[in-house]
Amino acid sequence: MLLKQLRLHDFRSYKQLSLTPPGGVTAIVGENGAGKTNLLEAIHLCCLGRSHRTSNDKDMIREGTETCGVHAKVLRNIGIDEVGVRLYAKNRSKKMVYVNGKIVPRIGEMMGHINCVMFSPEDLDIVKGSPQGRRRFVDMLLSQSQPAYFYAIQSYNNVLKQRNALLKGIAKGQSRQQLDVWDEQLAIRCVPIVRLRQQTADKLNVLAQKHYHVISGREQEILAIRFSSQLEASLDPQADLFRMLQQGREDDIRRLSTSFGPHRDDLNIFLGGREIKTHGSQGQIRTAALALRLSEMDILTSVNGDPPLLLLDDVLSELDVSRRTRLISQLRNVQTLITCTDLKELRGAVPDCVLNVHDGIVS
Ligand SMILES: Nc1ncnc2c1ncn2[C@@H]1O[C@H](COP(=O)(O)OP(=O)(O)OP(=O)(O)O)[C@@H](O)[C@H]1O
Ligand SMILES: [Mg+2]
Repeated sequence: MLLKQLRLHDFRSYKQLSLTPPGGVTAIVGENGAGKTNLLEAIHLCCLGRSHRTSNDKDMIREGTETCGVHAKVLRNIGIDEVGVRLYAKNRSKKMVYVNGKIVPRIGEMMGHINCVMFSPEDLDIVKGSPQGRRRFVDMLLSQSQPAYFYAIQSYNNVLKQRNALLKGIAKGQSRQQLDVWDEQLAIRCVPIVRLRQQTADKLNVLAQKHYHVISGREQEILAIRFSSQLEASLDPQADLFRMLQQGREDDIRRLSTSFGPHRDDLNIFLGGREIKTHGSQGQIRTAALALRLSEMDILTSVNGDPPLLLLDDVLSELDVSRRTRLISQLRNVQTLITCTDLKELRGAVPDCVLNVHDGIVS
């Protein structure tokens, strides 16, 4: 996949911008706060309909303005695809998405048109942070590779919200009759989620192990990834979740939340048999995060037959020289946008294009 054009208006620090990066590696160079990450974030927004670093869309609208727009045009092996997103400060829920010139009624319809893999400093949290971050990683990967998954998780979350609202209602005296309906609906909706997450975890396990070896250069350190779910061993997740929900009902009413279901899933990540988030060094955790992102790239490439855009935000400066060289060697043949404060950070790798960023202006 080749990014042919990126247009922004009133996005973060950019009033107006149009970029036409060539293929290969583009280095985005500038001081801290110059607006480098903002550019990558705009591309991410066109791929997934959201920022990689904030859940509040309003943050992306340039201060003092009411609306912002981003537009990306890519060349894929099946032709040209264009995605645009417009955000509004006054209306949180109003987000307009255009795919190939037409407004689409649901965000899910933009998924899979432009794919990216973003490497960012926040990725360390995937490895050492809360289960939520690991679920988000898997959910984003699956949404990009199988748009139907996006709808599946959205509809599961809607039912979960309704069930939790009813639990609170019951505590205030509302009838519990409706709970049966939500239990049944949650159980039905968990099935594709559990199946696809399990499959993805199995693929990640194989791929990430390979990438970990390549980047670390250490054969003896084995990275393993295991799907951890209340339903992981289940042959009939629908029946099993329904039963768990019914059995856990009194507890749920007391706690005002739902104790069973894929919203409690996690990925367990081990290095040399020990949990990496509690036993890994800073460098090992960083390498594991890179291995996960490289695996994401492999999965998206194999599903779409077209490599995703690679967005590397500030990742090289934190690696030692040999890891840096080995990482760069993994990125051949993929269009890559890489941010740095100084070209020296690329050590030897010669970018095909250099963009200098200063105060929201790119030259
Ligand atoms: N909504 C907004 N409106 C206007 N300016 C914004 C907005 N959000 C962020 N900025 C500005 O964008 C700049 C930060 O941009 P960005 O995060 O892209 O920097 P960077 O070049 O990646 O820096 P670093 O090297 O520190 O990572 C800051 O100067 C900030 O004030
Ligand atoms: Mg940055």
